[in-house]
Amino acid sequence: MNEFWIDAYRGFFKNRKILLGVTGSIAAFKAVDLVRILKKCGAEVKVILTESAEHFVTPLTLETLSENPVYQSLWGTPGSPMNHIELARWADLILVAPATANTLAEMAQGLGQSLLTTELLAAKAPVFIAPAMNPTMYAHPATQSNLSKLISYGYTLLSPVHGTAACGDEGVGRMMEPLDLLEHCAGAFCEKGKQKSLLINLGPTRSYLDPVRYFTNRSSGKMGSALAFAAVQAGYHVHVIAGPTQVPLPRLAQISRVSTTDEMAGAVLEAFPRCDLFFSTAAVLDIEFEHYSEQKIKKDRIDGAIPVSPTVDILKAVGEMKTKDQFILGFAAETENFIQNAKKKLKNKNCDAVFVNPVQEQGSGFEGDLNAGFLVTDSKIQEFKTQNKHELAFHLIQALELD
Ligand SMILES: Cc1cc2nc3c(=O)[nH]c(=O)nc-3n(C[C@H](O)[C@H](O)[C@H](O)COP(=O)(O)O)c2cc1C
Repeated sequence: MNEFWIDAYRGFFKNRKILLGVTGSIAAFKAVDLVRILKKCGAEVKVILTESAEHFVTPLTLETLSENPVYQSLWGTPGSPMNHIELARWADLILVAPATANTLAEMAQGLGQSLLTTELLAAKAPVFIAPAMNPTMYAHPATQSNLSKLISYGYTLLSPVHGTAACGDEGVGRMMEPLDLLEHCAGAFCEKGKQKSLLINLGPTRSYLDPVRYFTNRSSGKMGSALAFAAVQAGYHVHVIAGPTQVPLPRLAQISRVSTTDEMAGAVLEAFPRCDLFFSTAAVLDIEFEHYSEQKIKKDRIDGAIPVSPTVDILKAVGEMKTKDQFILGFAAETENFIQNAKKKLKNKNCDAVFVNPVQEQGSGFEGDLNAGFLVTDSKIQEFKTQNKHELAFHLIQALELD
């Protein structure tokens, strides 16, 4: 988890009320991390611990991290006799993680013998369940039949993964890692009802000289990634085509990975006819090596100029394919004549809007977490002052008025 990941998911979780149910599994220690990450993302968190869970993780730890009391008893706390439904009413989302075989069975039968299962019966918020148990327990027909029932009740199952259980058995039963769980839960906070699909390319491309050498550029893919996260949250069906980058990408998007400019061009031109919107944020190399050597070129043979030639212009090719119902936002990294260059790109590449960022100025451009620039259309020029790339992504999508 890094700050960029946190900022990306803050958009989904900020000020959301999350009720975390923790049950008596060895994986209960992961609840500590879940609370910590949710709080970093700006969520308000309350925790219910079952009686068994208290053997694995202390209320004090969860209380300290959540900055809220930890709830355990069905029988209320002084001054709050309606605990058994109040927490369910309070929550925007309920996550049961880890969920034991026993709690799953209680939930499937509609029992309300503990505070957690009673709250679940009273819940209107979306419920996500993350089972954690020994692989044989997970494969048991009773557990599987309980899970089928819970899915039929509308709960979302966050399936356990294959791995070695605490007891040493190998198989499916290990709870998903906290970051993975939260990436799935974020789906509950996407806007609903949009039918539009958005294609976005991001990151650099590479040109290979031989099996060990390539050249590329400084693009981190962060601006494109921030836009992809913001678009997922805004409810678009997002397809990301990413060049080689380590930047986090939204799990809820379709992701294609490419490396060279030709691969990027092939993937974009293939997907473009199916999209309503295309955001061209990738810093595609505009020159590439003319020849690729199958063998590593020896140092003493690399002397003088290595021939390079211009690459395919993906944005121009896409602009030529564009139908009247499609929308293209181009990105331009410039060092001078920002508006003039953006207007030129708007026309030459048949874009509907161009965002131009002054790459040499502090607080803008490649690699960093900040960006600034101008959104240029035929009729308007809007300036965006230096801000976090996630905030900028959110503001850009708003400013484009795409609905
Ligand atoms: C050391 C230990 C580890 C356990 N781990 C799990 C587990 O990972 N998953 C599970 O379903 N049950 C596990 N159990 C069994 C549950 O704790 C037991 O079924 C308990 O009744 C569950 O109560 P609860 O669902 O109310 O939390 C474990 C028990 C012990 C003693």
